[in-house]
Amino acid sequence: MVTIAVTGERDGEPRVAVSPETVKKLTGLGCAVRIAAGAGAQSRFSDAVLQVQGASIAASPAEVLAGADILLKVRRPSAEEVKALKPGAIVAAMLAPFDDRAGLNALAATGASLMAMEFMPRISRAQSMDVLSSQANLAGYKAVVDAAAHFGQALPMMMTAAGTVPAAKVFVMGVGVAGLQAIATARRLGAIVSATDVRPATKEQVASLGAKFIAVEDEEFLQAQTAAGYAKPMSAEYQKKQAELIASHIKSQDIVVTTALIPGRPAPKLVSTAMIESMKPGSVIVDLAAERGGNTELTRPDQDVDHNGVRIIGPTNLPGEVAVNASSLYAKNLLAFLETMIDKKEKVLKVNWDDEIVKGTLVARDGKIVHPALQGV
Ligand code: NAI
Repeated sequence: MVTIAVTGERDGEPRVAVSPETVKKLTGLGCAVRIAAGAGAQSRFSDAVLQVQGASIAASPAEVLAGADILLKVRRPSAEEVKALKPGAIVAAMLAPFDDRAGLNALAATGASLMAMEFMPRISRAQSMDVLSSQANLAGYKAVVDAAAHFGQALPMMMTAAGTVPAAKVFVMGVGVAGLQAIATARRLGAIVSATDVRPATKEQVASLGAKFIAVEDEEFLQAQTAAGYAKPMSAEYQKKQAELIASHIKSQDIVVTTALIPGRPAPKLVSTAMIESMKPGSVIVDLAAERGGNTELTRPDQDVDHNGVRIIGPTNLPGEVAVNASSLYAKNLLAFLETMIDKKEKVLKVNWDDEIVKGTLVARDGKIVHPALQGV
């Protein structure tokens, strides 16, 4: 029988790596699911509900971990947790593989097979395992809801007997998964929405959501997408033209949601202090790139900066603020991944180490860091 361990998270992370639905499915596959008491509490998955679905709840993390085959986490576990597992056990989590290399090396040294969910290849077979998408979608939604809450005005146009309330103007910068949901949410709230991105494929997506596309559409723009679907870093010349266009647009915006990222690099700085100073007092910027340095010059991670009456909010864990949904979707991502590694008939672990999704996510095995993206870093 395959034993799966789930312990609580550190540093105030409210999400959890399992849900009542996935416990039921995993036990149905013949796995034993052990969960530390209270681990699901902040996602409103009570011990009792998890137990009903087939999990065993243990009072101490030590009991949960002892000899388990698989450890599921939201964030990187401690080396102590991993050492308590069966030798060579599988750990699946958002490992933040580019951060704290010494800590990652210590985890690798335990001999566990470390799988970083962020590295899941973006192929159609793995869409149901794509944690970046499942979490970014919720972040995009929450960014707009938070911006609306901080904006001292209404978003939709309202025509009342006492006069007309104008619709708010929302500008979304970066139209990936988070940006698309931000546009859709702002539209649902009745705002006038515009958006920008450097990838030409986004132009049609923006239009299909009823928003206006704003971008410098030159030759470089037409080549700005990699084969993997991500943005490329843009030339200094393009950035200058882009900045001029953004500067003239942003001064009339009420809410700006920034989500622009380039994999493996600091977030591009798209909103300068001068641009922020051109905005009306009371305007709100929510910067989803805060964790990677921010898209504005004034963003501070997890802080609320007031600059001449313009608020710049830099949340680093918005999915955690909709923890019930974020945990449910994340747990489903993990379930879909685990299903490929469990032999349903024999009820044993059977990992195909040559599978693209295993190779793509495998960070360390047998004590060594094995992922190509982490060699020589
Ligand atoms: P991301 O989080 O890496 O970046 C967010 C957005 O910022 C991207 O759209 C990017 O083009 C944009 N950006 C970068 N530099 C910029 C700049 N200077 N100015 C304006 N915008 C800038 O992107 P995410 O959300 O991970 O999506 C990337 C792509 O992957 C999208 O095309 C998405 O549709 C695709 N995707 C494919 C999946 C699959 O096939 N399984 C699953 C999820 C996403």
